Amino acid sequence: MFLSKGASVWRLLQHRHAPSALTASSCRQACSSSRLVLGIETSCDDTGAAVVDESGVILGESLHSQKEVHLRTGGIIPTVAQQLHRDHIERVVQEALRRSGVTPSRLSAVATTVKPGLALSLAVGLQFSQTFVRRHNKPFIPIHHMEAHALTVRMLQPVAFPFLVLLVSGGHSLLAVARGVDDFLLLGQTMDEAPGDILDKVARRLSLARHPRCSALSGGQAVELLAKDGDRLKFPFTTPLRHARDCRFSFSGLRTQVTREIARREAEEGVREGTLLTCASDIAAGAQHTVATHLAGRTHRAILFCKENSLLPLDRPTLVLSGGVASNQYIRKALSTVADLTGLQLLCPPAKFCTDNGAMIAWNGVERLREGKGILPPDADVCYQPKAPLGVDVTAEVRAAGIRLPSVKMVIPT
Ligand code: KG4
Ligand code: ZN
Repeated sequence: MFLSKGASVWRLLQHRHAPSALTASSCRQACSSSRLVLGIETSCDDTGAAVVDESGVILGESLHSQKEVHLRTGGIIPTVAQQLHRDHIERVVQEALRRSGVTPSRLSAVATTVKPGLALSLAVGLQFSQTFVRRHNKPFIPIHHMEAHALTVRMLQPVAFPFLVLLVSGGHSLLAVARGVDDFLLLGQTMDEAPGDILDKVARRLSLARHPRCSALSGGQAVELLAKDGDRLKFPFTTPLRHARDCRFSFSGLRTQVTREIARREAEEGVREGTLLTCASDIAAGAQHTVATHLAGRTHRAILFCKENSLLPLDRPTLVLSGGVASNQYIRKALSTVADLTGLQLLCPPAKFCTDNGAMIAWNGVERLREGKGILPPDADVCYQPKAPLGVDVTAEVRAAGIRLPSVKMVIPT
């Protein structure tokens, strides 16, 4: 089942909770006995906070995106990101609390992203949270950003462990089996860059920020928008790692291919770097198609590996797609094609829950609170970790299995 981009959380929550329609305030009353977690996210370029209850109701949330600033500077400058987090974190947290109608004394815990991410950004969230939990004498739950992305779907609908998850964002590309709140098997991850990162770089190299329809969009969003009018086969870029029978990803070679093609076209059209090319939409479509094909192929092999090793339930095995790049509709279609082919149900949170937000961190705190895992006293000494692996790495076992993909031609509908 796909959750449509605009699917309202309230609609989803009404399903979970109730026969009758719930309003935010009646829900607040119903939730008054539930344990509440304040989640804080600052791992990259979004300052997010949310108060979430045990059944996944978001009582209040707030998000400050730094996207516009980083678009102007042509990428994230860590010191700039840090200053923006500092400037906004107090307001964002207070706004989430105010919207929730919850006072700090009602919170059961505070959950904050401490890994992985940009060191300077993580530091702001951690420092703010430590001051907050000490002042209000609350337990502290450190959160792994990728675990939070992986489990967000469970905030929105019941999804039992184990399930396969593909996480694709500006910093990551990984396939893992989620077996429990803190139990993951890593089947493969990127060897170099992440798909969001290369789409951002392609968008910058194509100067899409100058395009009237793309100026306020992230690189990935701009590529998706332009690709709609493009011919995905006009520039047939080579799919990465086609002959490696594992589930690792690689995107830097694709970035080089696309960059070279752009330079070639600029020479042909006799224009300088920084000028919008007439074939920009075809290049965007080709790049997006190749990213989608690469992600689909590796996911296909991961599913076959899981089946061979009985890692997923026989009854309604599930593939979850999340992370910022998962908001891309073309990539969703590619993964949907793989899921249909292999008999898995594909679940994908709505776009606002695929990109970074405070609710996903609060929810991970709820999951940990319910299981009593990783809950620390307010005065615990916690360090942030810019790099942090996810789960037990079985990449080598996947490679050793050498699974060949069936020679069916996978057609991604446009
Ligand atoms: O998960 P996220 O919000 O932050 C990280 O943890 O990285 O992902 C941000 C990334 C950016 O690279 C952005 O360009 C990409 O997700 N992105 C997209 C789309 N929306 C955001 N990529 C492709 N298509 C989209 N619609
Ligand atoms: Zn993220």
